[in-house]
Amino acid sequence: MSTAPFDFTAKNVLVFGGTSGINLGIAKGFSAAGARVGVASRSQDKVDAAVAQLGNDLGPAMGFSLDVRDAPAVQQAVHDFVAERGQIDVLVSGAAGNFLAPAAGLSPNGFKTVIDIDLLGTFNVMRAAYESLVKPGASVINISAPQAWIAMAFQVHACAAKAGIDQVTRTLALEWGPEGVRVNSIAPGPIGGTEGMERLAPTKEAAEHSQKAVPLGRWGEIEEIANMAMFLSSDLAGYVSGAVIPVDGASSAGRSIGG
Ligand code: HXC
Ligand code: NAP
Repeated sequence: MSTAPFDFTAKNVLVFGGTSGINLGIAKGFSAAGARVGVASRSQDKVDAAVAQLGNDLGPAMGFSLDVRDAPAVQQAVHDFVAERGQIDVLVSGAAGNFLAPAAGLSPNGFKTVIDIDLLGTFNVMRAAYESLVKPGASVINISAPQAWIAMAFQVHACAAKAGIDQVTRTLALEWGPEGVRVNSIAPGPIGGTEGMERLAPTKEAAEHSQKAVPLGRWGEIEEIANMAMFLSSDLAGYVSGAVIPVDGASSAGRSIGG
C-alpha cells in the first residue's frame, strides 16, 4: 500500500480506544504523519505497549488507562493531555465492545454494556473534549460500522450502539459546525487482523464466507481506515461534516444478484 500523503506535523491527536486494532492503526497513521498522539483504553499493559509503538521526532506519545464509561476519568485524561499539549486538533472515539449473541439470550446488562461502551462512551469523549477542541479547524472522528444501517443478526446491541453513534455525529456536527468543528463517522467494513473479526467470524469458514461477500472480494486493511481518518481530518475534507463514510469495499452498497 502506498504511503498516505498527509502532514499533521505538531497537530495534537487523542484516540480513545487507541491501543489495538483499527484505532491503534489510526494513531500510528497520525503519528507517522507528524502528529503528537495520545491513546486511551482500560488495560495499562495495552496502553504501555501502544505508547511504545507510537511517537516521532516531536517526542513520545501519551497514554491513559481509563474506561470510557467513566466520565470523570475521561475528563481527567483530556485535562492531562491538554495540560501537556495545549489543545486537541483531532479527536477519535473508537472504544467498543462486541460479541455475537442472539437477542433472546442476551441479558439486559449485556445489551447495556455495549451501549455504554460504544454510545455513552462516545458522548463522554466528545463532551469532555469539547472545550479543548481547536475552533475552528478541529476534526472529530467517531468509529461506527455499516451495521448501524444494515442490521445484522446476533448484533442487536452493537447495531443499536453504532446507529446511536451516527446520530451523535450528525447532531454535534449541527451544534459545533458554526464554531468550525467538523464531526464525522467512519464505518469500517470487515477489517483483517482485528479483534472485531475474530469475534464476528471466528472460524476459517466464516472468514472465507465473509471475504467472498464483500464486492471487492477481500477484507479491508487497518491502514485503509487510518487513511480515511487522516483524509477526513485534513483540509482536503474541509467541507465534509455530519457524514457517515463507509470504508467497506461496497459491502453496504446493496445486494448482489441472488444475495
Ligand atoms: C452474551 C455476554 C457475552 C457474550 C459478555 N456478556 N459477553 N452476553 N454473550 N459473549 C454479558 C455478560 O454476561 C454481562 O451481563 C455483560 O455482558 C457484561 O459483561 P462483562 O464481562 O462484565 O463486561 P466488561 O468486563 O465490561 O467487558 C465488555 C465486553 C468485553 C464487551 C463484554 O468483551 C470487552 O471488553 N470487549 C472489548 C474488546 C472488543 O469487544 N473488541 C471488538 C470490538 S469489534 P450479565 O447479565 O451476566 O451481568 C466491534 C465490531 C463492530 O465493535 C462491528 C459490528 C457493529
Ligand atoms: P479492538 O482491537 O478490540 O479495539 C477496541 C479498543 O477499545 C481497544 O483499544 C480496547 O482496549 C478499547 N476499549 C474497549 N472497551 C473500552 C472501554 N470500556 N473503555 C476504554 N477503552 C475500551 O477492536 P477493533 O476490531 O480494532 O475495533 C476498533 C473499532 O472499529 C471499534 O469501534 C469497532 O466497533 C470498529 N469496527 C471494527 C470492525 C472490524 O472489522 N474489526 C468493523 C466495523 C467497526 P482495552 O481492552 O484496553 O480497553
